[in-house]
Amino acid sequence: MMQIYKIDANTVQVICCPPEDVNRGDYLLIEDVNSERSLIIQVINSGYVNVPGILEDILRSSSTEKLEGVDLDPLEVKSFVNIIKDAELFTCKIRGALNKGKLSNNVSWIPPRSTSRLRKLPDVDLIKLLENEPQKGLDIGTLKGGGQISININSIDGKLNIITGKKGTGKSHLSKLLLIQLVSRGGICIVFDVNGEYINLGYTKNEGKTSLYDRFIPLTPGNDFKVTPQYAGLGVFLRVMENVLGLPATSAWEFRRIWKELKKQDALTLNNLNSAIRAVSNNYIQDALLRRFESLINTKFFTDDWSVATVLEAEMDKMDKGGALIINLQNINSKFRQIVVEFLLSKLSQLLENWGLKAVFLFAEEAHLYLRETYWNDVVTRMRHLGMFTTFITNQPDSIHKSVYRQADNIFLFNFTNEHDLEIVSRAAMIDVETVNIIARQLPPHHCLMLGKVLNNFPLIVRINSLKEKTMGETRLFFSDLKIKKS
Ligand SMILES: Nc1ncnc2c1ncn2[C@@H]1O[C@H](COP(=O)(O)OP(=O)(O)OP(=O)(O)O)[C@@H](O)[C@H]1O
Ligand SMILES: [Mg+2]
Repeated sequence: MMQIYKIDANTVQVICCPPEDVNRGDYLLIEDVNSERSLIIQVINSGYVNVPGILEDILRSSSTEKLEGVDLDPLEVKSFVNIIKDAELFTCKIRGALNKGKLSNNVSWIPPRSTSRLRKLPDVDLIKLLENEPQKGLDIGTLKGGGQISININSIDGKLNIITGKKGTGKSHLSKLLLIQLVSRGGICIVFDVNGEYINLGYTKNEGKTSLYDRFIPLTPGNDFKVTPQYAGLGVFLRVMENVLGLPATSAWEFRRIWKELKKQDALTLNNLNSAIRAVSNNYIQDALLRRFESLINTKFFTDDWSVATVLEAEMDKMDKGGALIINLQNINSKFRQIVVEFLLSKLSQLLENWGLKAVFLFAEEAHLYLRETYWNDVVTRMRHLGMFTTFITNQPDSIHKSVYRQADNIFLFNFTNEHDLEIVSRAAMIDVETVNIIARQLPPHHCLMLGKVLNNFPLIVRINSLKEKTMGETRLFFSDLKIKKS
């Protein structure tokens, strides 16, 4: 039986005696039998009740255990004491209220201790509260009691998401799951794939093609992903040269002049840019420009040949039923990665602003590896306004800017044990520090605590579904690889 012990602000303490099958993360309902109101609370911690005399009793029973033949329980209170000893205390957080069966935000009501009844909220009732429309939802996992969780597409559309947790807990897996479902429902997505682990999403585990095979377009910069200078535009070139390659402002002015001159003559090619730079009279400027220009050329990301160049508009046209460009950033150096991302963010902004691209979902793995300082704010404000909806995925929560935590709509939190990591995640306005601290530490692999709009602001522990696609997230094992080779 469960009873209210204390209510203090947002926290309810519940005594459970004898113990019931209630775990951290579970939801309970406090119903008042006299009114039609109830409180929805979530267990975030559990422990023993601190009853006076228990310590003494424990000590006495352990010191007298060996005395045989002596009746140590003449009053036969032992079984009663044992029940008290096992009584549990749950620390719970108030997550919502029900008034005549309807969800209400008014959680200021205090249920009477004497007439309130407590019971576990079953999955079916919980799922009803999430206000999901199953047919529109993305199927992502199950609750402990087996209830299927599908998240409303509107809670992802237009939103800013963070997927975080320590290494190997299942972050990229969830990101792939969301990606596949968005694509299958017509969404246009871009993935910054730093580990080259999304490029095979069009394949099943046994190398067959999935039904969405044609919708995943892997692009490897410098290889099958090249762009012409005209298409990239002066802005991208200048920003790359100045911000990524450190070109001084005076030389940037000279480059701008050269570019505009060639453009006027309709002769904007890499070769002509190269010759024009070599003809600059000031040696210092010439040298500064040449060095940067050569490192751009060396990436092989730029070409004059339109027949091999990628045009994003054309790729987007292929994705009219939904699709994803997987930008393979694996094995390319940090500057090159930044160049590619600079180009893509700039182009995507243009497409969203001027070209009829309605919206794009961006999946950014370990964004601190390529996202320039000034872009963090841009991504959460200006670009979001234009229709770019980003999901950041990282195992280092401190690598994501504060502004992202403040603006995030949803956080998918996997296991963390490190104090510092947890502290950073709890900066997000949507959750209290205690919940994050206690629940996140105990999440098993492939389970995540979902926070935010995604589940109608009810924090829930969800076991993420597996995938039939080839995910490539598997850690290579020396011995299992050995076995495969031998056979
Ligand atoms: N819900 C799940 N069901 C089945 N397998 C899973 C699930 N989630 C993750 N995995 C598997 O667990 C492994 C690690 O998952 P994943 O690559 O997503 O971890 P991660 O959190 O992204 O790790 P890292 O921080 O190293 O990037 C992978 O082999 C993946 O296929
Ligand atoms: Mg990962």
